Amino acid sequence: MYQIIDGKSVSNQIKQEIAEEVADIQKKGGKIPHLVAILVGTDGASETYVSHKEKACERVGFMSTIVRMKETVTENDLLEKIAEFNNDDDIDGLIVQVPLPDHISENKVVEAIDPEKDVDGFHPVNIGRMVIGLPSYISATPAGIIELLERYNIETSGKSCVVIGRSNIVGKPVSILLSRKSSRGNATVTVCHSRTPNIAELSSKADIVIVAMGKARFLTADMVKEGAVVFDVGITRIKSDKTKSGWKLVGDVAFDEVAPKCSFITPVPGGVGPMTIVSLLKNTLKASRKK
Ligand code: GUN
Repeated sequence: MYQIIDGKSVSNQIKQEIAEEVADIQKKGGKIPHLVAILVGTDGASETYVSHKEKACERVGFMSTIVRMKETVTENDLLEKIAEFNNDDDIDGLIVQVPLPDHISENKVVEAIDPEKDVDGFHPVNIGRMVIGLPSYISATPAGIIELLERYNIETSGKSCVVIGRSNIVGKPVSILLSRKSSRGNATVTVCHSRTPNIAELSSKADIVIVAMGKARFLTADMVKEGAVVFDVGITRIKSDKTKSGWKLVGDVAFDEVAPKCSFITPVPGGVGPMTIVSLLKNTLKASRKK
C-alpha cells in the first residue's frame, strides 16, 4: 500500500511553527519579516500564485506587499523598482513573479535583485553557493521537496533518482541538492529532458522519480518500478465535467495508475505545491533574522 506525502498537512504544521516564531519576535519588539512580490501583467496563474503567497504571509503574521506593474512596463522601470526595494531596509525578501513579458530579460531581472533579499533563490550568487554547498537561499520548490523527504524520513543516500525536467527553478536545483554530500543528498541523479530519448527506460529503474515538466499525466505506470517514490511538481488546469468550476488541476503523473506501484507519492493538488510557499516563508524569515 502506498503512502500519500501530504504536503498540505506538513505545510500547515510548518506555517504554525513560523507563526509562533513571528509572535515571539513581535513580543520581543523585533522586526516583522516583510516580503515584496512584484507582479508584471495579468497572467492568471501568476495572479493565483502571488495571491497564495500574500495569504500565506498574512497567516503567519508577515508583512507583505504586492507591487503590480503593467504588462507594458519597460525593463528599465522594472529594474529601477527593484533597486528601490534593494535599498529599502524595511524589506527583507523581494521576488519578481515569472514568467515575465517577452521584452523583459528574466536573467537581467534576477541578477538585479540583491542576493541577500533573493528569497526565491534564483540569483546566480545563491545558485552558485548552493552548488558548492555554502549557505544560500534555496529555491522554493526544490527546498520543499527536500523538506518532505526529511519529514517522511525517505532515504536518498545511495538511491537512484531520475529528475524529469531541467528548469532553472526546479529540475536543475533539485538534481544538484539530491546529489550533494549531505542529508537528503548522496543520490545518484539522472536528469531527463525533452531531448532524452529513453525517459521510460531510465525512470522505470529509479528509486525516486521527480517530474517537473508541465505535461499533464506524462508519467504512466509502466514508467515507474514497484516501490518507487514519486514527486509530482506539475500543475495543469484541464477541463472537467465533474467539478463545479468546470476545471480540474492535474499533475505530471497519471496518479490513479502510478500510485498503486509506489511506496510514497505526492498528490496534485496538496503535495509539492503547498511546500513551495512554505519554503518562501522560511527564506523570508531567514532574511529578516540575518539583519
Ligand atoms: N513562477 C513560478 N514559480 C515561481 C516562483 O517560485 N517564484 C517566482 N518568482 N516566480 C515563479
